[in-house]
Amino acid sequence: MKKLLTAVLLSASVVTGAFAAGGPSVPMADANIDADNKASLQRGARLYANYCLGCHGLKFQRYNRMGDDLGMDDELVKEHLMFTTNKVAETMDIAMPEREAATWFGQTPPDLSLITREKGIDYLYTYLTTFYVDESKETGVNNYAFPNASMPWVMWKLEGWKKPIYKEVDDHGKTVTKIVGYEQITEGEMSPEEFKSAMLDLTNFLHYVGEPIKQERVAIGLKVIAYLLLLFILSIFLKREFWKDVH
Ligand code: HEC
Repeated sequence: MKKLLTAVLLSASVVTGAFAAGGPSVPMADANIDADNKASLQRGARLYANYCLGCHGLKFQRYNRMGDDLGMDDELVKEHLMFTTNKVAETMDIAMPEREAATWFGQTPPDLSLITREKGIDYLYTYLTTFYVDESKETGVNNYAFPNASMPWVMWKLEGWKKPIYKEVDDHGKTVTKIVGYEQITEGEMSPEEFKSAMLDLTNFLHYVGEPIKQERVAIGLKVIAYLLLLFILSIFLKREFWKDVH
């Protein structure tokens, strides 16, 4: 039983590991972000709070920590970024219960704290810029980076709608149909360039979110070591206690 369990766990980690390393097999766009650009990070945070936080939490991110890092004071954070709570020390959770989300979308929207670490910034940027109209899907859209994703396209007002341009290409001797570009079919509030730049800000923000927990991990690591040390000392005392009568 134990062996079986180990085998299952091992194979699961191999599978997820391979996926994380290899990622999706389609070519990704370059996410040219500037992690030091505070204005870009602030714009990204605002987009996130307005368009994503309703479904995707950031369980490692506290509002006030983000404010400090991004150069925004508590009032500014409260005014522009906080809709589900008014306590700046809270983490950025969603208002919607996870179970309900799963019934609405078929999938629970994942927490995005670590998305750029798991899949990389190029994946995220590509995902955000390649939603296209697909009538065969329940949400009316499909995605190039994440085919058949069950997420509705929440930025359509900003971006407008686009449809893919397909082309037959030769793939190692086989002819396959590939998406080679997009055609804008309705205008959004932003021009395609403005929209791409906004998605870079959003990618930049989520890249930042993936980093600050580094501190937290170190703190947890230290606690674990302290705990192990304590256990070790206790076990020495225990051993002495047990052997006292034997000697
Ligand atoms: C209405 C709810 C909803 C909103 C709002 C929403 N999403 Fe999603 N999102 C989902 C669901 C549901 C999934 C799961 C898709 C799946 O697994 O098929 C998802 C998946 C994702 C994924 C894919 C994760 C992966 O495993 O590759 C990313 C990235 C993502 N969302 C980013 C965003 C961003 C950024 C925003 C804001 C612009 C946003 N989402 C807004 C519901 C939402």
